[in-house]
Amino acid sequence: ITPLVPRTRKEIYETLIKGLQRLEYRGYDSAGVAIDGNNNEDKERFIKLVKKRGKVKALEEELYKQDDLDSKTDFETHFGIAHTRWATHGVPSAINSHPQRSDKRNEFVVIHNGIITNYKDLRKFLESKGYEFESETDTETIPKLIKYMYDNRESEDTSFSALVERVIQQLEGAFALVFKSIHYPGEAVATRRGSPLLIGVRSKYKLSTEQVPVLYRTLELLLHLECPISLIGNIENVKNICNSQMKRRDSSTCLHAVGDKAVEFFFASDASAIIEHTNRVIFLEDDDIAAVTDGKLSIHRLKRSASDDPSRAIQTLQMELQQIMKGNFSAFMQKEIFEQPESVVNTMRGRVNFESSTVLLGGLKDHLKEIRRCRRLIIIGCGTSYHAAVATRQVLEELTELPVMVELASDFLDRNTPVFRDDVCFFISQSGETADTLMALRYCKERRALTVGITNTVGSSISRETDCGVHINAGPEIGVASTKAYTSQFVSLVMFGLMMSEDRISLQKRRQEIISGLKSLPEMIKEVLSLDEKIHDLALELYKQRSLLVMGRGYNYATCLEGALKIKEITYMHSEGILAGELKHGPLALIDKQMPVIMVIMKDPCFTKCQNALQQVTARQGRPIILCSKEDTESSKFAYKTIELPHTVDCLQGVLSVIPLQLLSFHLAVLRGYDVDFPRNLAKSVTVE
Ligand code: G6P
Repeated sequence: ITPLVPRTRKEIYETLIKGLQRLEYRGYDSAGVAIDGNNNEDKERFIKLVKKRGKVKALEEELYKQDDLDSKTDFETHFGIAHTRWATHGVPSAINSHPQRSDKRNEFVVIHNGIITNYKDLRKFLESKGYEFESETDTETIPKLIKYMYDNRESEDTSFSALVERVIQQLEGAFALVFKSIHYPGEAVATRRGSPLLIGVRSKYKLSTEQVPVLYRTLELLLHLECPISLIGNIENVKNICNSQMKRRDSSTCLHAVGDKAVEFFFASDASAIIEHTNRVIFLEDDDIAAVTDGKLSIHRLKRSASDDPSRAIQTLQMELQQIMKGNFSAFMQKEIFEQPESVVNTMRGRVNFESSTVLLGGLKDHLKEIRRCRRLIIIGCGTSYHAAVATRQVLEELTELPVMVELASDFLDRNTPVFRDDVCFFISQSGETADTLMALRYCKERRALTVGITNTVGSSISRETDCGVHINAGPEIGVASTKAYTSQFVSLVMFGLMMSEDRISLQKRRQEIISGLKSLPEMIKEVLSLDEKIHDLALELYKQRSLLVMGRGYNYATCLEGALKIKEITYMHSEGILAGELKHGPLALIDKQMPVIMVIMKDPCFTKCQNALQQVTARQGRPIILCSKEDTESSKFAYKTIELPHTVDCLQGVLSVIPLQLLSFHLAVLRGYDVDFPRNLAKSVTVE
């Protein structure tokens, strides 16, 4: 067993910066780090804080200007924190970025995800006590509050986590927090409520393949609330402790470290930040307070109730680092578009049996009876995830024979929509963390509806808080503009419809047709992707335009909404998805020789109606670019340009027809000189309302 070598400052910065870069898709208008400075001549401790407006790259450059890069740190255990921000309260600036601090001496520093809703009251209180604020953020109240608690502590022995406990009792809103303090050197305290937080666990020793499971199993057994995990330089000790713990499962003994500190801990809001160090993680629950003191981890809860599960499992994540790297593509978004032949296969893997024409979604099977008996299905999401619901509504109505409502989470909440016990509510979210969707979930839970999550993120808040669900298994999506998650959400919802209709004799032919469509989907996606060059040429013609309309109806209305959203998000052009049925009720006024219009016209039950819309557009001298089926000779006669797609069953056609629009938005954005993966003002995961 060889311990991994401890750190220079440069290594500490690198670890933090790399983690931030992996999180950049969550927000990126400013970033900052805090690490221990070496003791100065008076042996006084200090925390070094470096913050910068702009992308993580700007922070990295700033850090590499520091003069102490190659020096070893003075401390045996070292704990640094870093954060990348997407502004909610206060403009993007260094002063508003995190870590936020208690005072000019940086006695307490904090990083925060989420939002503190009662910050104004807290700020007023703290200002009345003489604390001076420097930023416009809600977060700054937290380090000030903990300093206030520290300054007014009853005893010298008050622990760091006891202070944090007091602080979070005063906070309202949502938060994931990590604290660092000069008064508690080498100690880390983290806590959450409503915002995700996980702890990565890594052995500092190179262990053999047999030793690895023993180590993590032991850690897990030791990880009972109030029982610090401590480990253990010697693998024999690990085994012994493991055995004794097996016998005394509910033990609350504190074990003390033997030998070197053997384990490193990483706190992060998202697994992608730490996956290159470890794939073993503990997901914290709301109001858990996790502290690492002297290399030992302990977790305790703010309020302990009898129903609390006292154990926290160490889960193994299946995510591989290379999965989250860009590969040969120039942007994550482009990579993700081209991954779709595989990502839809991964969504169906082990679920669709093409031989027996059956579909089994393991996460829903125990609730199927209840779902079949429900009054209606309500499908709720935001942005692209909402579009996946719009895209599949018709086929779900057909296969489930239930009324299906599709709802934007924010509007659903604004309306205080009536929800009943016999409703089944679906929450669609790539990240599983979108605040609006999460609030809608909690709203439906309060009304005792059955809740179903459809997410791409194992362990996310939505996947944990729903009664049951489906992981879409599309793999990590990093580009802010969602692409492969959309097609996988689409396929997941269709699979759900198929599972619901298994016993319906009258629907067997239809089911068969859809299942065959699913089987050939990956090949057809490849065929669509081969049109990339043609779409690039189209982008060359369009990229200087100010507007772009996308029009269609029926199964492809969602394609238009989603296509227009992609264009807006990353090209900053004005774009609208228009329901062709509404054309004559207003949008027709926009049509002239100049206005670029894309029309989605597929060989489906709306074909004739779409032809009418086409006539209306050409009659106003519009020059439509038509997305149509390969065998459609009729539409192309009137087209300024056509993009011909392979034909599949009507209700799956939207999986294919959205891809040219994804590619078009990508090429337009590149030609217009924009950063495709990081569009201005947008974040991948919007964890605030
Ligand atoms: C943000 C992203 C969108 C995404 C939406 C919903 O607005 O920029 O790309 O569609 O959130 O995200 P979710 O993770 O819930 O699918």
